[in-house]
Amino acid sequence: MRPKDPYIGREILSGQFRILQKIGTGGMGSVYKALQPDMNRMVAVKILHAKLKARKDLVARFRREARAMSHLTHPNTVKVLLYGELEEGELYIVMEYLDGRNLNQVVRRDGPLSVERAIPILIQVCGALEEAHQQGIVHRDLKPENIFLTNSAGMQDYAKVLDFGLAKVTERELRPGSIMLTQEGMVFGTPEFMSPEQAQGQTLDRRSDIYSLAIILYEALTGKLPFDARSSMEYIQLHVMSPPIPLDQRLADKTFPTGLGDVIAHAMAKDPNDRFTSTAEFAEALRTYAPSSFMPDWPPMAYASQPIPLASGPVSAPGATVRPDRIPADEPSAPAANLPTSVEVPHSHAVPPRMTSTLVVVATVSVIAGILLAVLAIKVF
Ligand SMILES: Nc1ncnc2c1ncn2[C@@H]1O[C@H](COP(=O)(O)OP(=O)(O)O)[C@@H](O)[C@H]1O
Ligand SMILES: [Mg+2]
Repeated sequence: MRPKDPYIGREILSGQFRILQKIGTGGMGSVYKALQPDMNRMVAVKILHAKLKARKDLVARFRREARAMSHLTHPNTVKVLLYGELEEGELYIVMEYLDGRNLNQVVRRDGPLSVERAIPILIQVCGALEEAHQQGIVHRDLKPENIFLTNSAGMQDYAKVLDFGLAKVTERELRPGSIMLTQEGMVFGTPEFMSPEQAQGQTLDRRSDIYSLAIILYEALTGKLPFDARSSMEYIQLHVMSPPIPLDQRLADKTFPTGLGDVIAHAMAKDPNDRFTSTAEFAEALRTYAPSSFMPDWPPMAYASQPIPLASGPVSAPGATVRPDRIPADEPSAPAANLPTSVEVPHSHAVPPRMTSTLVVVATVSVIAGILLAVLAIKVF
């Protein structure tokens, strides 16, 4: 029998929240459904795995996620209500609770989505990303598992972007004088959705997110990825070196509206300079394929939430005490040198179920990619 999760049934933050059940788990932590009795509402609480709290790099990353998300107010980004640290040092993020499924679960359950269903989802996600990008935040881990679909307020497939765990504030946005810790040479993300530049450990900008979004759309429409690979490593190589299988050739029994495949191919160009320059531009191109009932500016920005209240002063609680939010205002990016040095690379299928979660891969991958590129260059010349 598996040991009982120590958080289930526990009250945190002076009894403000009672943890009810686990709703998700990933490399960094677990996500729980919790009750906030005072507000008579459910929330979601993400807690960094207790065993990881000695890992300064991961703690920094979790804090970065909380901070990045708390600055975002777009209605299609999950709303952060509170974040901070519990008495034993576990970091937490309290978010609005979302009722529904993530996009990977939906595609696995319902099969590939129709164009009419997939395009509005992607346009909403582009809206959320546009706000992040304008703030200099690159998500870097866009994949179906990080896009949640709710049916709130009578709307179907209301999309919410989750998990800014790998998000990074770009250099441009850093305050003068702060040190940019380079991630050059490091590869991290999820291999199936990685842009070529991400696969090679290069510096990323918004165009890397656009590439990942195109793959998400491709997979939502076909149930397949644009490459056939058997392992994570192979996906990484194909992103760098191989043209994607055109959308119109992926399924024998399904056709797509003329031009949609070109829009996806444009967003997936190997060279970021050849892609759309913003998610707004990508969304504009997708709009042609949205059903007429999908309102161009829906959901309106007027629904954007208010600035996020952060955890206030210390409060004591039996069992679990919270300290005031101690997330520093301008903490630098996670130090590259401390990232995990080994990665399990599970074998994959071309179709979900997916084998990988977010990976942090060391330079070896980019070295391999580099060697492969060299081999390719030799072949060409
Ligand atoms: N606010 C939320 N409401 C409901 N479910 C959520 C919420 N946040 C996350 N989840 C579920 O938990 C899963 C993991 O959450 P995520 O933030 O992506 O964590 P990780 O860093 O572990 O990948 C998601 O795919 C989703 O199914
Ligand atoms: Mg996730």
